[in-house]
Amino acid sequence: MAALKILVIPGSLRTGSLNARLAAVAAYELAQAGAEVTRISLADFPLPIYDGDLQAKSGVPKNAVNLKRMIGVHHGVLIVTPEYNASIPPLVKNTIDWVTRVQDAHEARGQVFRGRAFAIAAASQSRLGGSRSLAALRLILSSCQALVIPNQLALSFAGEAYDDMDRLKHPADIEALAALVRQLIEISQRLM
Ligand SMILES: Cc1cc2nc3c(=O)[nH]c(=O)nc-3n(C[C@H](O)[C@H](O)[C@H](O)COP(=O)(O)O)c2cc1C
Repeated sequence: MAALKILVIPGSLRTGSLNARLAAVAAYELAQAGAEVTRISLADFPLPIYDGDLQAKSGVPKNAVNLKRMIGVHHGVLIVTPEYNASIPPLVKNTIDWVTRVQDAHEARGQVFRGRAFAIAAASQSRLGGSRSLAALRLILSSCQALVIPNQLALSFAGEAYDDMDRLKHPADIEALAALVRQLIEISQRLM
């Protein structure tokens, strides 16, 4: 059986990002559970703010095409997003918007999302742990017909959530991440 491939995408470029840190921990757990994990940075896929005139003039930027193809060679995707003003940051929304505009040969626009397993997680210093950004992201991905798995992780007080080995230290967080990893692997495998 081919290896299960999972793509992990942190939704922040910031040095010391809480979400990039959680993405790293999640990638480790996914690999421990047997997945072949690719963890990227959106810094390697810079995109202009979506503008229909720009698309009409120059087409979809190569980075959006590359990211779409990167998603397409993975069975499942984990997005770890910050929360900005109760929603997802422009980086994450803009990236998704551009990727939905990619149309490869013999494919419908946005086909890469359809029926693909997506897991979502957030990290924030607040008590809510970015859970409102997860609601927004779930809606967006669902509207793209992605299969967003039921389990999700909103990591509260994320700056204090780790031990000195950089592992999650609270049992509830550890269990929530384990459940997310289990379900993403199980559902991605079913869709392989
Ligand atoms: C414009 C802006 C809006 C924010 N709004 C929220 C918010 O609604 N809820 C929240 O929990 N944190 C909010 N924050 C704080 C972020 O969660 C915090 O900056 C976090 O560290 C960003 O993620 P990162 O560490 O992965 O870059 C906001 C930060 C910015 C810059």
